[in-house]
Amino acid sequence: MVEPVASPEGVRERVALGPLNRWWPVAAAWMVKDTPVGLTRLGERIVLWRDRDGTVHCLEDRCPHRGARLSMGWNLGDRIACWYHGVETDGSGVVRDVPAVADCPMTGRKMVKSYPCLEHMGGIFVWFGDALHEEPEEFRMPEEFTSPDWSAILCTAHWKCNWVYAVDNVMDPMHGAYLHAVSHSMAEGDREARMKVEDTETGFVFGKVGQRDVNFDWIEWGDTGAFWLRVSPLPYRREAGPGGHFGIMGFVTPIDRDNCRVFFWRTRRVSGWQRDLWHFMYRNKLEALHWTVLEQDRVVLEGMSPDARDREFLYQHDTGLARVRRYLEREAEAQLSALAAESAPAAEAAE
Ligand code: FES
Ligand SMILES: [Fe+2]
Repeated sequence: MVEPVASPEGVRERVALGPLNRWWPVAAAWMVKDTPVGLTRLGERIVLWRDRDGTVHCLEDRCPHRGARLSMGWNLGDRIACWYHGVETDGSGVVRDVPAVADCPMTGRKMVKSYPCLEHMGGIFVWFGDALHEEPEEFRMPEEFTSPDWSAILCTAHWKCNWVYAVDNVMDPMHGAYLHAVSHSMAEGDREARMKVEDTETGFVFGKVGQRDVNFDWIEWGDTGAFWLRVSPLPYRREAGPGGHFGIMGFVTPIDRDNCRVFFWRTRRVSGWQRDLWHFMYRNKLEALHWTVLEQDRVVLEGMSPDARDREFLYQHDTGLARVRRYLEREAEAQLSALAAESAPAAEAAE
């Protein structure tokens, strides 16, 4: 028997929309209040809302009756009511009431796909699993998210480019000394360097040989139930307030082929009253400066054509991003092949 393999087009498409079977940040916590919120992530339309306890729920944004977007409907607390004809669906995707019809067979049945979700550090994460992975795997969060010694502040933005371009950008430490040459925090560092790769338990580190504690020295790619990027901590000037080096935990979530949402958590090893002071200073003094740097990234990436990758010439500094691209391709290929293998016996039986 021939092993089912994924088609190159299928793999390309899956990478472009993000491999499945991972947790992905989909929104900042402040973006989801009482009103249902409709979003597109990984090419899928989802709706998020909070119940009366403030817990976030996530469903496919499609009413089981005739397909209106549930995000246009009403938040009834433990359920959401469709605007069109009032069908009520709960957070597990089960229809609870069809007010227009007595004894409708939809009532009590799971009719809508539900997505596991969790809220942490000011972000909402959703599990996107394929048919073989509907139950979520554990998201082994980075230390910056779990240790009481760390504090993290989320900055998020919509970028009009494919998500892999945004990942490529972070996997490229050399651009800091050029693109951000005129900036408050990224201007230092070698403008010419040799780069090296070192494996870690959850991914790898790619960085400048011999440069430490200067600027964007290295970048770490991690896969711990979610894909993340850790930027080498930067020494920070004294007037930036308490705490040691200043780090970034980055995530990029695909919206569709041509849009993504970036999530950059600014991290610092700071706790207690110093954490409050750091948050205050960040919001008042530093955040605007960071947005200036992020805007430089956004403008360059949005200016690249969607097929830029088909006509590029990579050199040694691009080893890190090339490795992530291969990683994503292997992931997508493995997922699609597993799904094909699952459906193969049924197809054979039907012949
Ligand atoms: S389409 Fe939602 S109730 Fe009819
Ligand atoms: Fe940058």
